Amino acid sequence: MADRPPRLEGKVAIVTGAGSSGEGVGNGKAASILFAREGAKVLLVDFQEDRARETLDIIQEEGGVASTLQGDMTKIDDCERMAQTAMERYGRVDILDNNVGISQRGTVVEVSEEDWDKVMTVNLKTIMLASKATIPHIIAGGGGAIINIASIAGLRAHSSTPYTTSKAGVIGLTFSMAADHAADNIRVNAIAPGLVYTPMVAPRMNDDLRQFRADAAPLKTEGTGWDVGYAALFLASDEARWVTGICLPVDAGLTSVHPGTFTPMNQQTRY
Ligand SMILES: NC(=O)c1ccc[n+]([C@@H]2O[C@H](COP(=O)([O-])OP(=O)(O)OC[C@H]3O[C@@H](n4cnc5c(N)ncnc54)[C@H](O)[C@@H]3O)[C@@H](O)[C@H]2O)c1
Repeated sequence: MADRPPRLEGKVAIVTGAGSSGEGVGNGKAASILFAREGAKVLLVDFQEDRARETLDIIQEEGGVASTLQGDMTKIDDCERMAQTAMERYGRVDILDNNVGISQRGTVVEVSEEDWDKVMTVNLKTIMLASKATIPHIIAGGGGAIINIASIAGLRAHSSTPYTTSKAGVIGLTFSMAADHAADNIRVNAIAPGLVYTPMVAPRMNDDLRQFRADAAPLKTEGTGWDVGYAALFLASDEARWVTGICLPVDAGLTSVHPGTFTPMNQQTRY
């Protein structure tokens, strides 16, 4: 096997929501570690900086280069400070992983206006604000890649109407940003994670529910933040130089099958 240079050698990445909301490895933490493993210098942004520091500890133990920044991506001033900090510390920005997100269940009847506005702001507006602040610097460096973390909940109903609506918005925003900034040599793609087991969902899980979620998709295995992180790594790298304006499901095939496909009857008769 030939030796190869690190896939993100010489690049600078910003990851928003680079910590994890509990023990373990979420999507942002995994992407940050993988970016650093492949040679990127990574600015780890989180509104709870201690969470980003846990990610930093892992990266530094592995000999990678990264640093943390406290910042709330719902605030344009913090987003601008984030982009400025990346420029001051590392001199350029090539990659922006817009990973901040919160879940919100309920129907339109159940959800409060306040919770509706909050999930739209945290899941959707943050991507606009962080991108607005960062894109001029990516353009100045000759182009780069933006990854927006959506969800399969944005592709179909998911018993969480506010969340689904915000993530469908992330996918639309991704298409539009990809078209707007192709001429700037910026690729913009979304990832739609499926039922991955991360610190974000862990508090709502028990063993039965984890097994049920794993069995729901054709591959019948449990996904983790690493699965989402590896997809982000590909989209961030020059290997994806011809890929823009897509929404990549990372879901063990869940969205590719009819909901009835894995009923016991079909399991017996499908061959
Ligand atoms: N876990 C899943 O099953 C799943 C599935 C589909 C999509 N997603 C999406 O993946 C993304 C991240 O998931 P994760 O597992 O890394 O979540 P996580 O909750 O473990 O980590 C998110 C991090 O974002 C930070 N954060 C939250 N709001 C912020 C803000 N306004 N400014 C800065 N930082 C903020 C939190 O402090 C936390 O450290 C989210 O967009 C989520 O919707 C997750």
